[in-house]
Amino acid sequence: MIPKETVDAIFQAVVIEEVVGDFVQLKKSGSTFRGLSPFTSEKTPSFYVVPSKGIFKDFSSGKGGSAVNFLMEHEKLSYPEALKWLANKYGIEIVEREQTAEEVAAQTERESLAAVSTFAQKWFTSQLWESDQGKSVGLSYFRGREFSDTALQDYLIGYAPEGDRSRPGLFAEAAIAAGYDKKWLLAAGLCKARDDGSLWDFFGGRVIFPIRDVTGRTVGFGGRTLRSDKKIAKYFNSPESPLYDKSRVLYGIHLARHAIIREDRCILVEGYTDVMAMRQAGVENVVSSSGTALSSSQVRLIKRFSQQVTMLFDGDPAGLRAAVRGVDIVLREGLDVKVAVLPDGEDPDTFAKARTAEQLQNWLADHATDFIRFKTDLLSAEAGQDPMARADLARSVVASIAAVPDALKRSVLLQESAARLGLKEDVLIEEMRRMAVEQAAQSRRDAERAERAAGRSSRSGSTSAPVDSDMTGAPPPDEALDLAGGRGTAPFSGPRLAGEVGRPAREKDLLRLLLMYGKDLVEVPTDDGPVKMTLAACLFEELETLQIEIGHLTVHKVLALYRDETSDEGDWNADILTQHADMEIAKLTADLLVSPHELSHNWSERHGIFPALESDSLIEALQSSLHRLLMDEARDQGDQISKALEAAEAEGNTANTTELLRNKIEIQKHIQQLSRHFGSTILGG
Ligand code: CTP
Ligand code: MN
Repeated sequence: MIPKETVDAIFQAVVIEEVVGDFVQLKKSGSTFRGLSPFTSEKTPSFYVVPSKGIFKDFSSGKGGSAVNFLMEHEKLSYPEALKWLANKYGIEIVEREQTAEEVAAQTERESLAAVSTFAQKWFTSQLWESDQGKSVGLSYFRGREFSDTALQDYLIGYAPEGDRSRPGLFAEAAIAAGYDKKWLLAAGLCKARDDGSLWDFFGGRVIFPIRDVTGRTVGFGGRTLRSDKKIAKYFNSPESPLYDKSRVLYGIHLARHAIIREDRCILVEGYTDVMAMRQAGVENVVSSSGTALSSSQVRLIKRFSQQVTMLFDGDPAGLRAAVRGVDIVLREGLDVKVAVLPDGEDPDTFAKARTAEQLQNWLADHATDFIRFKTDLLSAEAGQDPMARADLARSVVASIAAVPDALKRSVLLQESAARLGLKEDVLIEEMRRMAVEQAAQSRRDAERAERAAGRSSRSGSTSAPVDSDMTGAPPPDEALDLAGGRGTAPFSGPRLAGEVGRPAREKDLLRLLLMYGKDLVEVPTDDGPVKMTLAACLFEELETLQIEIGHLTVHKVLALYRDETSDEGDWNADILTQHADMEIAKLTADLLVSPHELSHNWSERHGIFPALESDSLIEALQSSLHRLLMDEARDQGDQISKALEAAEAEGNTANTTELLRNKIEIQKHIQQLSRHFGSTILGG
């Protein structure tokens, strides 16, 4: 937990144009800064930074917000990560509080492990480039495999020299001499103790692949032996520790992240050298799960950058079958998965080295197949005509399809797979139904078990389901059964539909008026003549009189905050909102506070737009915003009733018809009333 005072201090120190300026070339124009959007590939700048408000606004992507929002969007950081980034830039010390004793211990343990790991990485790397053994054994090995110096440097590749076996390891000696505690060398798995207590180097004699987290920090190591002795493991890997959680790290992610965003696709390969070779060939959006099946945390890590994954497999059939097994996890997270299989005898390393980036990209584009299609064909060929094997195959394919969260996609996939397997679609649907029911029963049992366990240990039994989605299997049964993406649901199911059509935009517009002009005085016509009040007061009064319920959750929250934080006289400081810890609030308000014509006159000129100045006739702006909101809603209700009426008439349901007709008349009356209420301003009277 970062304490609130620290968060405030960070926001006070931040100079947004400096932060954004680290990533975007900005030019000053008047009181704002302009640049090319870092989120799109535009040619004319429509990206603005407004220092007076501490916010940015990108008209080409629609993104906007504070410096924290910028870092979250651009660097894909979490909220606390973004705060830490800023604290680091502005030299603010973050003293996290409210940590338990164990948390503090884990924290210092992680820090110690991180320190020793960074030291080890630097030492191994310098050994590769500078020591005799490193150069003659390690470096020449990589050169022999045609890895460029740049590739080796990009991945911080190193070498762990082997010393005299009767003496302590060379790395162990260097680390101890540099002041690192033996305890951390052992805990990080870098050294092991002999019976006499002396240390030997776990990675000695191996080339080193530092494993780094998404921010580039070294958290672990892979070490490859250079011997072709089949009896020793080709790779040694660091053990898991509070610093290194294998299921959360992807090899190469730190270098690949921007390319993954840019290409909107992540390419997955099997090994360290595959990642390096692909990047060296110019394909940069590549990562590896390092020889293990993907975990759902790894999938979610990818998902921060793109929804699309291409898995690149070697051609050998045994490997393929194993690879296919882990993929349902990826599907379950809603990612779009493609598979490309390399020609026999090639791996991404050999394949990439013989090709240019363009050839690789073209090959990938031509050979990447939808995963479920791929799996169906692969297993189908294997099962042959054996009926038992074909039944297993059908089940396995259906399980993959059931993992896809999108109902419409599932429906298409079922149709297609049925055709490919030569089975009736109904058979697959029935199998999916059965699985869904089984899954539901299983999750119910899990939930009950969790509740029973919770009931024993805590006072108030938490009824919410466990959050970690690792355990969620197929979609909930009713959704799983909804194969046609909506077939069978009632078409006019009331509030959900009504709430969506245009209404959120209307509510946001109201909020925008409040944020921009809330403190301005307006003249409100009343029966006793005009009365002066703030626009805010007028707006809140209208909301009450017209009994308008704000449905948009964030708009609702901001209205409440505004009411709480401002008095009629008091100064209103928008920072409370634009820098609010609730990201939705910060984003929305920052967005609303920047209107295009306010940013620069150039903008208006360039686009030939000279809007009538809203600020000159605030009361009209407010009235018409409210009017539009209510009219939209009334019209939507009217439309729905008309549709329901048609349906009822077609069915000959007279009882319903009468009721609906009555509702329709009510709505029409309501629309007339609204027109009267707003008539004077709308008609310009
Ligand atoms: N791996 C491992 N332990 C092993 C073998 C493999 O951890 N004993 C992991 C490594 O992360 C390795 C990946 O599985 O990168 C793929 O294995 P493999 O294809 O055998 O290795 P490559 O990375 O291709 O290495 P090289 O090209 O140097 O043989
Ligand atoms: Mn290989």
